[in-house]
Amino acid sequence: MKLTTEKWLDIAALNDIPRRGGRVLKVAGGCIALFRTNDDQVFALDDRCPHKAGPLSQGIVHGAAVTCPLHNWVISLETGEAMGADEGQVATYSAKVSNGRVLVGQECLRLGMEPADG
Ligand code: FES
Repeated sequence: MKLTTEKWLDIAALNDIPRRGGRVLKVAGGCIALFRTNDDQVFALDDRCPHKAGPLSQGIVHGAAVTCPLHNWVISLETGEAMGADEGQVATYSAKVSNGRVLVGQECLRLGMEPADG
């Protein structure tokens, strides 16, 4: 398998993110929450709960979902959608693990960072 290196940004070691926890990636236009599941998958979502903008990165990961620390809404890490009876959605971004490193798709930077020349 080939990586298209210009499309992915290496931003952290997998072990920088606690299992079943999150970490914040700050970009010019906001914050992205990075999550690591118990089986070492990673997901990237906007760090603003669709309910009242709570910090999802502070939540607890269970399966492929995170529970918001403010009012316990459960958000799917795969789709960004609120689960159960709640309604709302948060933006998701591409993320993957390669050789123990966490890579996110360059589209994360569309949140506001100006692209570098060249
Ligand atoms: S702000 Fe996340 S559940 Fe209310």
